[in-house]
Amino acid sequence: MAETPNLIRPVCLGAVALAGNLVLAPMHEHTHLVLRRLARRCGAALAHTEMVTPEDLLAGPSEEELRKHPPPGHDPASGEMPAGTLSYKARNILASMAGDRPLAVQLLPREPGSLAQAVTLLASRGAADLVDLNFACPSERVVKCGRGGAMLRRPATALRLVEAAVGASRLPVTLKMRIGFTDTASARARALDIAREAAAVGIAGLTLHARTVGQGYSGKAAWPEIARWAEALAPLPLFGSGDLRSPEAVVAMLRETRAAGASIARGALGSPWIFRQVIELATTGRYEPVTLRERRNTILEEFDGLAQQYGETVAVRFMRLFGKYYAHGLPKASAIRAAFQEARTAAALRETVERWFGEGQ
Ligand SMILES: Cc1cc2nc3c(=O)[nH]c(=O)nc-3n(C[C@H](O)[C@H](O)[C@H](O)COP(=O)(O)O)c2cc1C
Repeated sequence: MAETPNLIRPVCLGAVALAGNLVLAPMHEHTHLVLRRLARRCGAALAHTEMVTPEDLLAGPSEEELRKHPPPGHDPASGEMPAGTLSYKARNILASMAGDRPLAVQLLPREPGSLAQAVTLLASRGAADLVDLNFACPSERVVKCGRGGAMLRRPATALRLVEAAVGASRLPVTLKMRIGFTDTASARARALDIAREAAAVGIAGLTLHARTVGQGYSGKAAWPEIARWAEALAPLPLFGSGDLRSPEAVVAMLRETRAAGASIARGALGSPWIFRQVIELATTGRYEPVTLRERRNTILEEFDGLAQQYGETVAVRFMRLFGKYYAHGLPKASAIRAAFQEARTAAALRETVERWFGEGQ
């Protein structure tokens, strides 16, 4: 492959200067602090939290949560707790640490009032460098309650949301969109119109998942739409998303579309080194395959990070899912997936890791 060094370059999203243009995409129940940390170490220039509704961010802990997951400073006798205490869910989504920057918190709004309050909360806590609005989620539950991809059918509401977010603080606001609600010329034109108007309101960037809402995650991502939107919205930085499952795919998308950057989702699950490999491939024409040792160490690091944040029991539950991703591309992948699925304890999980990824494999 020919050298194409300028595919990897810095990007500015409003006042936030990214050192590069490879981004860890938002992924529900996946983009935990530890995955963000791993992705950044491998070269992700920006990472997103998973989506959260403004209402969930603002709600505070429920009675049940106070019993199960008492927040710091909560006095069980009086029920008192510090003003602004977040729910368990919100605390985990916003959990961060030194080095976990720049961080984009993704909101899944429905109406401008709560959105503006949530953006104000993020700004006043210093919890985000960017606010990303999700106008893309295809989940039936989400769309039915008028959020996510539903916005592509409601341009007026979508624009009111953008105005509310942009006006609420100095945090730059970005959008996550799809190419249309359905695959018709008018649905596609409406989606691009929303993006154009949002750019006029002052968004700092946009990520385009090159599928329609109706497609969900099936079918092929339409990269030519990324090229079309990037040109139509220039100079707004546009990040391409969809089918970026290998270093070759990311480099091909960047080359074919001239997008400002790439938003990597499933390609980073069980392979945070994809960021490093994309940079190597784009700058030298080749990349080093990952070693089994790095896979082993990374799985254990992901498990330990999750255990630190959520406790060991919950971490095991997460790793039964996440561990499977690390089998990708290995000859015994299906046996490895089954072994992770069966692990019920931290000891069993560690044993699975050593058995399949340890010395002697
Ligand atoms: C498990 C999972 C969860 C996701 N959650 C979100 C989310 O919270 N917000 C969002 O904007 N996109 C979400 N996405 C979509 C991804 O960010 C990305 O746009 C999509 O997966 C296409 O990229 P890919 O084909 O390279 O995976 C999710 C995708 C997956 C696979």
